[in-house]
Amino acid sequence: MPDVRGHFLPELVCSDDLAGRVAVVVDVLRATTTIVAALAAGARAVVPCLTIDEARRVASALPPGTALLGGERGGLAIEGFDLGNSPAEYTSQAVTGKTIVLTTTNGTKALVRCRGASQVVLAAFVNFSGVCEYLLRIERPTLIDIVCAGTDSHQTQEDVLLAGALAGRLADAAGWQLDDGAAMARAAWSAVSRGDDDELPSRVIATLRDSRGGRNLIAIGMDRDIETAAEIDRFNIVPRFDPSTGAVTI
Ligand code: MLT
Repeated sequence: MPDVRGHFLPELVCSDDLAGRVAVVVDVLRATTTIVAALAAGARAVVPCLTIDEARRVASALPPGTALLGGERGGLAIEGFDLGNSPAEYTSQAVTGKTIVLTTTNGTKALVRCRGASQVVLAAFVNFSGVCEYLLRIERPTLIDIVCAGTDSHQTQEDVLLAGALAGRLADAAGWQLDDGAAMARAAWSAVSRGDDDELPSRVIATLRDSRGGRNLIAIGMDRDIETAAEIDRFNIVPRFDPSTGAVTI
């Protein structure tokens, strides 16, 4: 049995199969990047919701003045919501002490899909090393499932790339065995990471721009979020989703 499995889409994971395992949810462009940014900026918690109606209901049940509605549909901010899904919007001025009730097209779905795992960890390039260190500290034998959110049920290069970077670090640092999905993701990351270290950030940005999620963001004029999402290790926090409270916290 491999230690690390890689899933290129949430649909390929059966929630019951995750029992007793650690799920690592990846949505580089942009849900997990934005959630990390929000919590690093001082948000109290992020509550992922599947639908716009659910998000409105959850937010209105929270004490007045404590919740902000955030998220996107088609990448764009939702009418009547306080915030979109750009990490740059989640400044400390905007979110400190607030609960963000968030609904996105793919990322929040992937999180909810993983609720059967014993732990659900959120990963992005912006908290890459923090997540690796966290996973490497978990008592062995630890079985890890890296779950890519994808885009509208299509596999996306940006998520597979981060899944591969994570799998590669776990294999190199601790000799963890990778299943075929995790090994394929690792090969994708190796192709990008090989070469001059100083140029790694620009290679990552170029690959994210050329991914499905990147092209979608460029089409709606949100290119700057790609650069923000590519900032490896900008934050050293490890958000976790607790299905019993429905909240992501650090
Ligand atoms: C999602 O969860 O679907 C995304 O993060 C999409 C986006 O932000 O454009």
